Amino acid sequence: MHILGIETSCDETAVCVLECTGDFGGNFAYKTLGDALISQIAIHAPYGGVFPNLAKREHQRNLTPLLSRALDESGLLRVRTEAGPGVHSPQSVVRSILERETELLPQVETFLQTYDRPHIDCIAVTAGPGLEPALWVGVNFARALATQWELPLVAVNHMEGHIIASLVTQSRSVASSPQSVAKNQGATGHELRTSDFPAVALLASGGHTELQLVKGLGEYSLIGETRDDAAGEAFDKIARILDLPYPGGPEISRLAAEARAGGLVSPAPFPRPMLDSGDYDFSFSGLKTAARKLIEAHQPMTDDLRSAFSCEAEEAIVETLVIKTMRAADEHDAQTIIVGGGVSANVYLRSRLAEAAASEGRAVLFPGPGLSTDNAVMIALAGYFRALKEEFTDPAALRADGNMRLSSKIEKDQ
Ligand code: KG4
Ligand code: ZN
Repeated sequence: MHILGIETSCDETAVCVLECTGDFGGNFAYKTLGDALISQIAIHAPYGGVFPNLAKREHQRNLTPLLSRALDESGLLRVRTEAGPGVHSPQSVVRSILERETELLPQVETFLQTYDRPHIDCIAVTAGPGLEPALWVGVNFARALATQWELPLVAVNHMEGHIIASLVTQSRSVASSPQSVAKNQGATGHELRTSDFPAVALLASGGHTELQLVKGLGEYSLIGETRDDAAGEAFDKIARILDLPYPGGPEISRLAAEARAGGLVSPAPFPRPMLDSGDYDFSFSGLKTAARKLIEAHQPMTDDLRSAFSCEAEEAIVETLVIKTMRAADEHDAQTIIVGGGVSANVYLRSRLAEAAASEGRAVLFPGPGLSTDNAVMIALAGYFRALKEEFTDPAALRADGNMRLSSKIEKDQ
């Protein structure tokens, strides 16, 4: 199945085409035929965070060029011929779907008039959670294409995408199909036996921090979540206090590694929030406030001090995430720990979690290269498994939902 994935939930605009075969388990394999992404990091950096209306504008500008690029890479972009499949001119329904996307509409109209309908079997789009103005652009783009090309549409939960990005990282090679382009030799497959479940998923990004119990593919229960700031947000905010650029996670991580190598120690410890709360919730806002006070009390700032504080911030966030994740894994007897979201790119988190999981005989799965931060591949993958179950959505009825939940919360009985 050729699946077109579209992601616009935050500050990455991404479009990809995957070729997927088999069902989840032994015979599943996928191959990335085309993958095009534009990060808006540089545009949002001066604001120290993502500015929703700016993200909306940029998604509108980026989506059509990225669609062309992803289809072209896939060998699926064909200029319209009289005899070719497709449409003669965009229908008024496309205009009404993209009525509010005033920058996107003319580009989509031109695209639909210029190119044939590509050999795509299904469209998967992030419908939530995320920044609602940003989500709407991708959702309306997908609705317009699905309507015009008469293709089935799958609404994907972004958090499920992050889970699946880690589940498919164990790779094996499979033969390329005739449509596959030369530069993408081989496909990535994943085998997850049912005995690998239940799993506990730690999902940590700039907007979310949560622990999900994964009983099987598509079977989730929320174990705990942040009550205020997300882990990535804590990295970003503490970085800002330290005059480091956005996004703060990679910067803090880089300086923390320098501090460890140079034996630099923070003059004061940062708190590890909610470790004794008796549940699996997180709270990072207090950590940020405590960090601010301690950093302000140690002025003037020097390079060494900045590195030492970065190290302490990373230790505090990572330790909190690891301890709570391991406790949840223990309580739910998880065979596997799945880690997803932008913060899962953090090298220190990876090594601490791998160490803790190995000491308890649990497996730990991280996303492969390029799949930690937001991307369209994880959305297409999640969409594929839903498409296999024919969980399609009506393009006329699909709405973006900034607060979309993956599951409801398990209340802890103690
Ligand atoms: O999943 P993502 O790309 O977007 C959201 O859905 O939010 O995550 C972005 C977040 C940012 O807060 C960024 O600082 C954090 O992930 N991040 C990191 C690292 N790389 C990205 N945090 C810690 N260490 C990293 N290496
Ligand atoms: Zn994300």
